[in-house]
Parts: sequence; structure tokens; C-alpha cells
Amino acid sequence: MDDSSPNRQPWPLNLTDLEEAAGSVLSQMVFDYYRGGALDEITLRRNRAAWEEISLRYRVLCDVSTRRLDIDLLGSHVTSPVLFAPTAFHRLAHPDGELATARAARALGTVMVLSTLSTVPMEEVCAEHDLVWFQLYVYKDRGLTRDLVARAEAAGAKAIVLTVDAQMWGRRERDVRNRFHLPDGIQAVNALPGGFGEMPERAAESGLAAYVAALFDLTLSWRDLESLRSQTSLPIVLKGIVHPDDARLAVDSGIDAVVVSNHGGRQLDTAPATAAALPAVVAAVDGRIPVLVDGGIRRGTDVIKAIAMGASAVLIGRPVLWGLAVGGDRGIEQAVGGILGELDEAMALCGVTSPGDITSDLLG
Ligand SMILES: Cc1cc2nc3c(=O)[nH]c(=O)nc-3n(C[C@H](O)[C@H](O)[C@H](O)COP(=O)(O)O)c2cc1C
Repeated sequence: MDDSSPNRQPWPLNLTDLEEAAGSVLSQMVFDYYRGGALDEITLRRNRAAWEEISLRYRVLCDVSTRRLDIDLLGSHVTSPVLFAPTAFHRLAHPDGELATARAARALGTVMVLSTLSTVPMEEVCAEHDLVWFQLYVYKDRGLTRDLVARAEAAGAKAIVLTVDAQMWGRRERDVRNRFHLPDGIQAVNALPGGFGEMPERAAESGLAAYVAALFDLTLSWRDLESLRSQTSLPIVLKGIVHPDDARLAVDSGIDAVVVSNHGGRQLDTAPATAAALPAVVAAVDGRIPVLVDGGIRRGTDVIKAIAMGASAVLIGRPVLWGLAVGGDRGIEQAVGGILGELDEAMALCGVTSPGDITSDLLG
């Protein structure tokens, strides 16, 4: 971004300020949809509070003059352990939508997890960036679902991220109040071939909730994983795990990675904070597959804490949307660049020089 213009607002100093800036450019309906959680938003608040509660017991005199952030993950080299979580409907934030997000992920050299509910077709997004993982929602129309997986693989996606905590939609009261719907010209384009691109506008509820209730398959179970496995040679990641028994079942089912997530507090309210759920999942997985985590990660120190607790990487959701709303792809680069700067600084302050050096010894 060109910061030299005298009329330019200074770029927000941190992700909390950025959220406020995004609030001033988004409509109330969209801002509420992006920031909100389920019911009383207890889990939403818990996510953030739990990272804040953890202390970092730093080391000194470690020669931290040279540092690196890059990691290897599911067969890809990624420039930092901070990935973009899948979030729906990016064209609500910016006309370029997911294309802008993909450009930012490419510039940053990190993974973009692309939502099934994107507003730009997956083929166009994958053409912008070669590190896209496709997030899958399972429709009752299993033909459409199979088609989504096949299209993602053909388009060059590097993994399938099956979201397992959102077949039943969490009740987000902000969306009910605002009767959330997609404005004309914005659709869930990946589902257009199945005839499911439109979101209804309903008098008494969220159009998205009505869409999910009508179309997503509540019969989804562990038995379906075998069939998914047979449909793709890509790594399969399960997103939305908080229980250690589910983590064990995932490993036993041949899953390649899990994401400890409560959907950013948008599904079961009063679910545990992800920072609270992470240790038991890490213990259950016992190093057999990578464990990732998301939910409330807003500072570089949060990333260090997650890795110290055994995560291989983290994902951030809303901050990417705030960056997109305020400044398109460059806005996302600045937002995520900010947290990466904090991570680098905090690593130096902790006495470590790479993500691989971050161990549980730092948790005080
Ligand atoms: C506006 C919004 C839309 C989301 N859409 C999806 C989605 O389509 N698929 C999915 O698996 N998760 C979705 N999520 C959940 C995120 O992937 C992620 O778990 C969560 O946002 C992480 O928390 P954070 O926003 O506090 O970083 C969405 C979250 C938000 C805020």
C-alpha cells in the first residue's frame, strides 16, 4: 500500500484495530455475519481469552540474530505456519472476492483454504495460486459433492479439508436479526452445477441457515470417509475436531491431518476454546499426523503458544476478511504480514529461531 499519500488513513496497528476499520466499510449485515458467533457467543469470546491466559516462559542468550518462519506441511513448503482458514463469500467484502485472497496467499507463500461457499469458482481461484486446499461441505446431493472433490483435484488443489462440525448449522442470532442473505449477483458459485447457487431471502431467519438446513447432509458419519478416500488421491484433513476420541478415530480412518477448531465459535456455543481442546488432541494423535488449530489467533504470541502446545500450524479466519474489506489483496498482505512480523519478533524474544525450535518448554 502506498502510505505516502497525505490523505491516507494510517494502516491499523493490529488486528483488533483492523476489525474496527473493517466495520466502518462493511454493511451491518456483512460485518455481523463475519464477526458473529452462535447464540451467546461464549465460545467466540473463550477462543480469544484462552490464548491470552497462556504465558510464555522465554529463554535468553540464544543468539536470535537469524530467524526463519518456513515449515513443511502435507508435502508442501509453506513460508510460515500461518494459513488462511476457509471463510465463505469473500465478494461480500471486496469485488475481487476469493481472487484477491488467493493473490495475497500467493504473495505471502502460504496456504489458502478455499471454502465450498466461495463466490468465485474454485477453478479461477486455483489458477491464481498453487497452494490452495479445498474445504468441503457435504451436500445431500452426493453427486454434487463428488463433483466438487473431483473439480478441486483437477483444478490443482493440494488437499481436501472436510469440515465436520457444521452439517447442522449453529444458530447465529445476528444473522437471524439481519435476515442474512446474498445480494444480487453474489452466489455460492461452486454449487451452481447442482442448482444450489442461490441463498433464499426469508422473512424470519438467516438465508444461509435455511440453505444449509435444506441442502447439507445430516447423515454424514465416519463411514463416509472411506468413500471420500476412494474419490481422491489428495491428502484429507478433518476440520472441526475438539474431542481426543475423534482425533483417534481420524488417525485410525487414515486421515492425513486434523484441525482443532470450533468454527470460530459459530457452531456449538459453550464448546471449549480451541486452546483448551488442543493439548488432549495432540496427546491422542501422538505425532502420527499433523495437528493444526484455529480460533481467536490474533497475535504472533498466540502462534508460538499453539506450536508450543504441539500444533504444526495455525489458521486465521476473520482477520483475512478484515484485510480484504479494508484493502483487497494488499490489505490481506498487510494484515497477515503484521501477525507474521509479531511472530518473528516474539520468537526472538522467546529465544528461538525457527518454528521447529518452539517446544512445550516455553509454556510457563
Ligand atoms: C465469516 C466466516 C465464514 C466461515 N466460513 C467457513 C466455511 O465456509 N467453511 C469452514 O470450514 N469454516 C468456515 N468458517 C470457520 C473458519 O474456517 C475458522 O474455523 C474460524 O473463522 C477461525 O476462527 P477466527 O476467525 O477467530 O480466526 C467461517 C468463519 C467465518 C468467520
